[in-house]
Amino acid sequence: MFPETPFYYYDTALLRTTLAAIAKEIAPYPNYHVHYAMKANANPRLLEIIQQAGLGADCVSGGEVQKAIDAGFPADKIVYAGVGKSDREILTALQHDIFCFNVESIPELEVINELAAREGKIARVCLRINPDVEAHTHTHIITGMAENKFGIALHDMLQVVQLAQQLSNISFLGLHFHIGSQITNMQDFVALCQRINEIQHLLHKHAIYPSVINVGGGLGIDYQTPSEHPIADFKAYFRVFTQHLHLRPEQSLHFELGRSVVAQCGSLITRVLYVKQTATKQFAIVDAGMTELIRPALYQAKHKIHHAIPSLHHATQRYDIVGPICESSDVFDKDVLLPITQRGDLLAIRSAGAYGESMASTYNCRPLPPNYTDEEVDLPL
Ligand code: LLP
Repeated sequence: MFPETPFYYYDTALLRTTLAAIAKEIAPYPNYHVHYAMKANANPRLLEIIQQAGLGADCVSGGEVQKAIDAGFPADKIVYAGVGKSDREILTALQHDIFCFNVESIPELEVINELAAREGKIARVCLRINPDVEAHTHTHIITGMAENKFGIALHDMLQVVQLAQQLSNISFLGLHFHIGSQITNMQDFVALCQRINEIQHLLHKHAIYPSVINVGGGLGIDYQTPSEHPIADFKAYFRVFTQHLHLRPEQSLHFELGRSVVAQCGSLITRVLYVKQTATKQFAIVDAGMTELIRPALYQAKHKIHHAIPSLHHATQRYDIVGPICESSDVFDKDVLLPITQRGDLLAIRSAGAYGESMASTYNCRPLPPNYTDEEVDLPL
């Protein structure tokens, strides 16, 4: 029996191929480490596959740290960032002895030192530096500019590094950066590398030698043509860092990829409830909404939408594809050209593997939808 809609559909074969593509690109560089950014999708079935492929985890809450541990990620491959870590969350991470905290302010550094002292632990720390490098992406997902709340300002960096080196229960490992998400112009990452080179040059003058450089995540994917480009351009991405970042031989380089690992393996499968005609528009009202995929409403994101099972109709028409939620922004896309569409048709909203399920909500008292893999449901996607 075909499952009830809406549901998330995950192509685990594609996820495995994606992970193999990453492994292939970093294989020549034993000092490269990829941590999967769990915020993109913390579905346990995907986490298991990602963990088995040898990736570490990048977490942004105590809940994610716990979930990473439960999914089998080794604690020494877990990094933890976030501007507002609570005492309880810091303690969770300390108790699990994670690889590293990515620390975003002086007060946070002092609290971690204090809690580590109380627990009889030494907290390993990278300082998250705001590099003031612009990522050319949607304004809601730019993080590395001076006006953003993230990280330690460049002009405070030296002072904070020196403080980290002095605090008794802190071990200073190095520096962390993240400039934004859905970045497709590799020049943005080149600019980040150049900024890191300048920063390292400055630190060397003060005899400070970070052993860890973490460049965050942000590699974008192709939302327009997911079937043609199911795998992000990992080759070009990693090449930027091998070519432009100056590392000392003993330094390790860490990445925190989220979207590019899981986006393309996921689709949101939804059924057309009604086709509604007005004087100016034709709406396909579907049973999924912004509760299952908030990206179009929140970031004006465009996801490819098509029939999940090829339609028998050859004639096409234009539809605004909208959800059932009581919000005008509950629109997946406008004027989408589809084969003639009727009540009961199944649609696939593609590239929903990242920031789909993980950002789902129960707004309007809707239940969270189930998820199925290619091993359970046969869909020609
Ligand atoms: N590291 C840090 C510190 C981050 O803040 C993020 C994402 C990542 C890594 C992973 O970035 P990725 O490789 O996935 O681009 N909800 C938005 C995206 C928010 C990204 C937040 N930070 C969206 O749906 O587009």
